[in-house]
Amino acid sequence: MIPGVISTGLLSALTQLAESWGTGEKSRPYFRKRLWGSWSMLRAMVTDRATWKAHVMLDKETGLDPPGIKLRAAQGFDATDFFVTGYWLWSKIIENLASIGYDPTSAHTASYDWRLAYQNLELRDRYFSRLKNYIETAAKLSDKKVVLVAHSMGSQLAHYFFKWVEAEGYGDGGSRWVEDNIEAFINISGCMLGAVKGVPAVLSGEMKDTAQLNRFAVYGLEKFFSREDRAEIMRAMPGISSMLPKGGNAVWGNLTWAPDDSPSQNTSNGAFIKFTKGNYTEAHANLSMSESLDYLLENSDSWFHNMIRQSYSHGVALSGAEVEANQKIPQKWVNPLESRLPFAPSLKIYCFYGIGKPTERSYYFHENNDPLSRLNVSIDTTVSGEGSDRGVVTAEGDGTVSLLSAGYMCVKGWRLKRFNPAGVKIKTYEMPHQPEMFDIRGGPNTGDHVDILGRQKLNELILRVAAGDGDSISDNIESDIVAISERVKIYDD
Ligand SMILES: *[C@@H]1O[C@H](CO)[C@@H](O)[C@H](O)[C@H]1NC(C)=O
Ligand SMILES: *[C@@H]1O[C@H](CO)[C@@H](O)[C@H](O)[C@H]1NC(C)=O
Ligand SMILES: *[C@@H]1O[C@H](CO)[C@@H](O)[C@H](O)[C@H]1NC(C)=O
Ligand SMILES: *[C@@H]1O[C@H](CO)[C@@H](O)[C@H](O)[C@H]1NC(C)=O
Ligand SMILES: *[C@@H]1O[C@H](CO)[C@@H](O)[C@H](O)[C@H]1NC(C)=O
Ligand SMILES: *[C@@H]1O[C@H](CO)[C@@H](O)[C@H](O)[C@H]1NC(C)=O
Repeated sequence: MIPGVISTGLLSALTQLAESWGTGEKSRPYFRKRLWGSWSMLRAMVTDRATWKAHVMLDKETGLDPPGIKLRAAQGFDATDFFVTGYWLWSKIIENLASIGYDPTSAHTASYDWRLAYQNLELRDRYFSRLKNYIETAAKLSDKKVVLVAHSMGSQLAHYFFKWVEAEGYGDGGSRWVEDNIEAFINISGCMLGAVKGVPAVLSGEMKDTAQLNRFAVYGLEKFFSREDRAEIMRAMPGISSMLPKGGNAVWGNLTWAPDDSPSQNTSNGAFIKFTKGNYTEAHANLSMSESLDYLLENSDSWFHNMIRQSYSHGVALSGAEVEANQKIPQKWVNPLESRLPFAPSLKIYCFYGIGKPTERSYYFHENNDPLSRLNVSIDTTVSGEGSDRGVVTAEGDGTVSLLSAGYMCVKGWRLKRFNPAGVKIKTYEMPHQPEMFDIRGGPNTGDHVDILGRQKLNELILRVAAGDGDSISDNIESDIVAISERVKIYDD
């Protein structure tokens, strides 16, 4: 099981990040305390904000531990069961798996420090080497291939792992490794093409109305930190930026049109950042998705700029030759539109995600002339109406991940030969959001990005795959994702 970070407030991690292992003077009060997603976090935020911030941010230049500070992902089932006491995450799934015979010798959670850029997960923690060993051992001992279950950011990480594990000079597993070791890949609320909420989080430190799981962490950040602090913290966690949207304008649209615009919509979501005048006489030009990412990098310090450029890539590979060339380029591995699935004809991929919950899709921003602020932009919360609620325009999704990001690869992208040369079978099961009014977690039929982990249907589907009966699952598509995907401007080469 590969947990995710909730991309909404971005901060709250399913992995309860971060026990402090530093023994220096500053770290002593926090030794083995959870500095992310716990009461210790809130306590530290209240009593010693600067120290807390210094602990959770990575070194800006190296993207690794700052001198004298050491935070690590908490490990084991306990780390992923509950976020705070009583707020279940994976506990229901683990309990259900136990009921069909899984136990700690046959099930494993692979927690990771989601703040790190993916390459640094290997460099610092040998994360991918360990995952590879674990899977090989499990497969050998049971004489059965392994089922991987990933949630949210975990699904991007799994895709990256597939690339890494086969590549020469990295995992060195060779082109048959996935075929030989992985039975199925279950991908819950995956955000392979990113989450648009990531953009305002790093651009302007704004994470409003993103209280999903993160209610807790976002609460602390909003309450005790300035917008500038929040943007700085988000940027100094390069793992978070792995969730910036991928596929550029081909997926997210141009200034007047987007594949997922609805016919009744007057203002296209393709204009991802729509500028209003603010205090200026003229508004900045509107920005499409590709332009927005360029704008973000132009308006941020070089350490952030460099880290993003060194770690990730957000485009589309137009030909099979380009995809093959990218097999050797780690920056491309996180993007399924620039790298391909493993050549594993018997691998099965299951995409399970929620729909029917308004999800941030585009924004109204204005430029600021506040001399105290180093961030020159913020969401223009005065714009409401015409689809916008206080500067935020929503569209179809699971509350965190847009339908476009959740569904495109599953129903269309992986039907293109260059991204899936072995014809790996993909099944897509959508679950509409039908929350129960009096249950804060939405009850048995929620489609929410996080709460879906407790949904009855999702648990049943996971059990079917884990019990070797995944073939009995058929597609369930209730949204417009097929028509939307046809409009995405990516074609066979
Ligand atoms: C945006 O894309 C649509 C659909 O392809 C096209 O009709 C329109 O001219 C494009 N607009 C701009 C500003 O490029
Ligand atoms: C930006 O988009 C908004 C909303 O569609 C529009 O009213 C405005 O004119 C656009 N700005 C520019 C400079 O085109
Ligand atoms: C913000 O705007 C000011 C004035 O236009 C400019 O000098 C400064 O470089 C901008 N800051 C960033 C981070 O882009
Ligand atoms: C516009 O100016 C007012 C008064 O100086 C200030 O309070 C406000 O924050 C400014 N708005 C923006 C978007 O910069
Ligand atoms: C689009 O504009 C028309 C005419 O101004 C208006 O009646 C309609 O409500 C608008 N649609 C949306 C989704 O705002
Ligand atoms: C996981 O599923 C999501 C849909 O929920 C999809 O967008 C993504 O591409 C899938 N990723 C992988 C690696 O299967």
